Amino acid sequence: MTKTNDKTIFRLLLLIVFFIFGVSSYTGYSEVEAEKFLNLAAAAYADSSNVTARQSCIDVSFPTDNFRVLMVMSTPCDKHGNQCQAFVAISDTTRQVIISFRGTNSAGQLLTEFSNGLEDYVNYTETDGSGNNVNVGHANVYFLDAMKQMWDDMVYPSINSRKDYTFLITGHSLGGAMATLTAFRIAFRQFSNRIKVHTFGEPRVGDLLFAGYFTAVVPYAFRVVHYTDPIPHLPPLNVDNPTGSGMPYHHPREIWYNDDFTSYTLCSDTNGEDWSCSDQKPFWDYGSKGVYRHTHYFNHFVSEYGSLGCPNSESTIKYAIVLFSLIFYFL
Ligand SMILES: *[C@@H]1O[C@H](CO)[C@@H](O)[C@H](O)[C@H]1NC(C)=O
Ligand SMILES: *[C@@H]1O[C@H](CO)[C@@H](O)[C@H](O)[C@H]1NC(C)=O
Repeated sequence: MTKTNDKTIFRLLLLIVFFIFGVSSYTGYSEVEAEKFLNLAAAAYADSSNVTARQSCIDVSFPTDNFRVLMVMSTPCDKHGNQCQAFVAISDTTRQVIISFRGTNSAGQLLTEFSNGLEDYVNYTETDGSGNNVNVGHANVYFLDAMKQMWDDMVYPSINSRKDYTFLITGHSLGGAMATLTAFRIAFRQFSNRIKVHTFGEPRVGDLLFAGYFTAVVPYAFRVVHYTDPIPHLPPLNVDNPTGSGMPYHHPREIWYNDDFTSYTLCSDTNGEDWSCSDQKPFWDYGSKGVYRHTHYFNHFVSEYGSLGCPNSESTIKYAIVLFSLIFYFL
């Protein structure tokens, strides 16, 4: 009897050990955390004057952290002068900084804009922690200019006195590109190495060399892709020389979700163009649902969801169903 019990306990322990190792091998991707970041990304879509909606999205993710928004700003961030909006929020309680970027509302416009965006890639020189200028590959000139503008006017003034904080950086669409570049600058300039990035539907922001630099200094970065969202495939890979200098190339780590967000594939953590993930879908296969997929993440219409203050309708319904089932069970 005791022997069986011992065996059972041993098996349980083994299971727990396997579970822990299984989870840690995922290099920290947590869907729960990704959904928290999505609320922050959505918060950037709240009207710039709507303090309530923005705060509400933040509080849905971090109800007890006492985050307060320091600054909201807009700047042109693409070829057509579309405005990207961003905000910085601080929790002195948990010593965290949120930097969240939104893109344009028009996914259709993005599609035409990026289908021929190769010429927009320029040499990117960044200053490292010792003050040396380093060529870190190529990046999209519009995103780069917008990042620098926001850095000077908002990011640097907000984080300068908070170098020992943890940085939660996120963005949807063009906002994802801005998030990547901002996270890179914070890490490369050695402001902090406590940086967590989740982006949603991010277009290609730099080339292979940039992807390498980015991954080296921002290892905690997840690029969530909704099935055949077309924007992460733009600007398109150069079929003849995808890894060439100045050719668009993704940074890892893609998290590739199925259409209804019930499962995901964890893609390569070293190669941003993992052909077992969204790249396997041919360019012409995006179909009419492309725009829908780009604008919807974790089953939320991101911009509308954020404007409304991230109402938790879905789980309210689930909760009600559970409650009713329980009541009927006990009747
Ligand atoms: C701000 O957003 C909330 C949703 O959270 C909405 O109810 C409210 O009407 C908005 N306020 C203004 C001034 O637009
Ligand atoms: C970019 O910078 C690198 C290193 O400084 C240089 O070798 C390369 O020729 C530059 N490329 C372009 C297109 O200017």
